[in-house]
Amino acid sequence: MNGRGNGLADTAPDNGQTILVAGGAGYIGCVLVPKLVERGYKVRLLDRMYFGEQGLDSVRDKIEMVVADVRDIPEDALDGVDGVINLSGLSNDPTAEFDPEANWQMNAVATETLGQMCVKRGIERYVFASSCSLYDGLPPGMHDETAPIEPRAAYATSKRYGEEALLKLAGEGLTPVLLRNGTVYGYSPRMRFDLVVNTFVKDALLTGKLMLHGGGWMWRPLVDVRDVSDAMIAAYEAPAEKVRGEIFNVLHSNYQIRELAMLVAGSVQLTGRSVTLDEVPAPALTRDYECSNAKLSTTLGFIPRHSVLDAVTDLVGRLDGSTASQLTDPRNYNIRWLELLNELKPSLETFPSVL
Ligand SMILES: NC(=O)c1ccc[n+]([C@@H]2O[C@H](COP(=O)([O-])OP(=O)(O)OC[C@H]3O[C@@H](n4cnc5c(N)ncnc54)[C@H](O)[C@@H]3O)[C@@H](O)[C@H]2O)c1
Repeated sequence: MNGRGNGLADTAPDNGQTILVAGGAGYIGCVLVPKLVERGYKVRLLDRMYFGEQGLDSVRDKIEMVVADVRDIPEDALDGVDGVINLSGLSNDPTAEFDPEANWQMNAVATETLGQMCVKRGIERYVFASSCSLYDGLPPGMHDETAPIEPRAAYATSKRYGEEALLKLAGEGLTPVLLRNGTVYGYSPRMRFDLVVNTFVKDALLTGKLMLHGGGWMWRPLVDVRDVSDAMIAAYEAPAEKVRGEIFNVLHSNYQIRELAMLVAGSVQLTGRSVTLDEVPAPALTRDYECSNAKLSTTLGFIPRHSVLDAVTDLVGRLDGSTASQLTDPRNYNIRWLELLNELKPSLETFPSVL
């Protein structure tokens, strides 16, 4: 075991490497990039900056920034790059449904194109942020990476296309590693309050009411943003023969939504506030699935270590005292922010980066 306690080696094997992190200014990227810098990597970040760059303040002078779109990657963005971590694109169902064509171009086509650019340049390692939402729609029960998935929604379909395209490139010299992340929770300098645990913490602090849609019986795999970031680093650094063309689920545990609500309510009640759980009808579309994290631990020895309770305690400590306008800032809700930007410009094809 090491200092981090999750199986990731304390030091990087070769810390002179340059990693291109596409989509690195987002929720996960703003936790991952400082970790890469701390590990001695040179980071070149490529991002459209939809949500701004303020989440990168702590490393701004230590990284290279390329403000560009993954649908049109400048050739020289890959100059001197040793490997790629791709976090870019639309990152949830509502935004993918909001503009399915832009979602397809970003999450499916651009993922493949970036892979082809890597092959052309002899860049081998490509870690791709896929999603456990690919398991939605399967019969109830625990699913591993071999499950016969049949994604239907725009977001999951585009992620699956990206996975398959990269797997094909494994025959051409690429070492793609596909991480199917559970729903992420915890603090990032670029917060998202549209993810279930973070939403509950925000609601508990803001209104003292947590909504349980359809009773909250749905299952969901969950993982802390620090663990997802470390898993990406572990996938980047693992020997190629262990990970080439492999898919790994990345999650701490599976929870029912009502269990999450009770954990959050309990933590926030400790600060002296009252929090109630309100049952409301389920929306037309709900997501319900459970996944196994065994392959990541048996293959790479990587075990996510931050529980929901850890992260909620940390979040409550950080957010207690935040003003209502901080907690409701539309920039922290992907679909609200993209809708607002779209009111300024007609489509995701044309709206400007937000600096
Ligand atoms: N957060 C989660 O719960 C979760 C779960 C599973 C998978 N993932 C995947 O992990 C990745 C990162 O998620 P996140 O929560 O950090 O999302 P995020 O929305 O916070 O970050 C995405 C980043 O990509 C950038 N981006 C979007 N479209 C782009 C484009 N066309 N060109 C260049 N940059 C672009 C955005 O500006 C943003 O900085 C995504 O691919 C997402 O699908 C996230």
